Amino acid sequence: MNTTIAKPEIEILDPLMRIPEGVLGNPYPRLANMREHAPILWSPEGNQWLVTRFDEANSILRNNKFGKRLDKWRHPNFLMRGAIKYMRPGQNILLQDPPDHTRIRSLVNTAFTPKVIHQLEEHITEIADGLLAKMLRKNSSDLISEFAFIIPVTVIAELLGVPASDREQFKAWSRKITMGAAGGGCPMRIFDSILAMQGLRSYLSATIDRKKKSPGNDLISTLVEIQAESNDRLSKSELLANAVLILIAGHETTVNLIGNGTYNLLKSPDQKKALLHNPDLINGTVEEILRYDPPVQVVRRLANEPMEIGGVHIKPDDALTILVGACNRDPRANPDPDRFDITREKPKHISFGAGIHYCLGAELARTEARIALHQLFDAAPDLRLDDTPALYKGPFALRGLQQLMVTTR
Ligand code: HEM
Repeated sequence: MNTTIAKPEIEILDPLMRIPEGVLGNPYPRLANMREHAPILWSPEGNQWLVTRFDEANSILRNNKFGKRLDKWRHPNFLMRGAIKYMRPGQNILLQDPPDHTRIRSLVNTAFTPKVIHQLEEHITEIADGLLAKMLRKNSSDLISEFAFIIPVTVIAELLGVPASDREQFKAWSRKITMGAAGGGCPMRIFDSILAMQGLRSYLSATIDRKKKSPGNDLISTLVEIQAESNDRLSKSELLANAVLILIAGHETTVNLIGNGTYNLLKSPDQKKALLHNPDLINGTVEEILRYDPPVQVVRRLANEPMEIGGVHIKPDDALTILVGACNRDPRANPDPDRFDITREKPKHISFGAGIHYCLGAELARTEARIALHQLFDAAPDLRLDDTPALYKGPFALRGLQQLMVTTR
């Protein structure tokens, strides 16, 4: 008898392709299908491997045979190939390999140690309380624009030494820059993102010039001093590239940790009740939000040499794109992974990456989210979602809500 084994239908979710609204809203079933049937899957349209299993992703991130030479990446869209080259004039640590990465990371690290972040706790609490006092005077508010966005953007602006009052301008630049990487490769969006990058770079260049003349007690002033002492420790273009990176990464992600967290808690009344009943669960709550609905969904590496991984043959310069949300919901890493459970024992996740590029701002992001959620539910235990649908915005790589309308009493 002639038997054929039917191949399971795998609908690929490739972040480089246009992603339908419904899938953007809930990508997890499609990611689970990929993970269970082809955990390291070649995407012909995206010209890259898609990695959806926890152990494989974790070992790729910790292995120096995979690196960051993204200029070698054969991106399927020629406009994007040009944009990638343009977007990295100078170097930021997110795009560097050792030894340059090690040299610069050690310079910027000092501003984000647990000790430094601990000293900010009181100030972050004041910011959160000030915003809540305004929000709670009204019946209905957008939690994203009135609360979740303002905390991280204010803190990162102060740490860097740029006026937090320019935050709407940072938001506009950041939005355009990150949308350039959205799937589908729309030429207008790519063009807009290049213009926005130029705007942000000129702004921070002017800030750097100002700090040379009158330094302050902030990270840009510290880096300006290091650069003036020795161009070998930090070049001018590296200084600017890292200021750009830290300003964008410092708020574009944490707004979504607070937003996705509030949304998932309000959608799960039993979990919200557990947190209200036992506020000591807050640290585990933040870890579970990171695992369950991660703000950064895509991390990429390029193979430096040929190798086998997960039974798949990888060639030099192949791109491997790790789909973080799929890996965090791998049942081999976390039992019952589609359940949002703030009492989970040590949820395993790679939401801050792993290895040498492990997120510089992880301690800051955790602290901001912990304080924001604690103060929010302490001040408004009856907080509810209103009837406006909460829509996840693009790009897929940065998962967050456009707005989150809540009823505050
Ligand atoms: C919830 C919030 C955040 C998430 C989910 C997040 C996620 C990540 C991830 C996944 C990486 C690794 C990327 C890779 O391996 O290619 C990373 C790196 C990085 N993050 Fe974050 N991040 C967050 C907040 C922040 C904050 C507040 C800052 C502010 C300083 C920051 C600055 C950076 C920098 C500079 C890197 C590059 C580190 C390196 O390459 O050595 N991030 N982040």
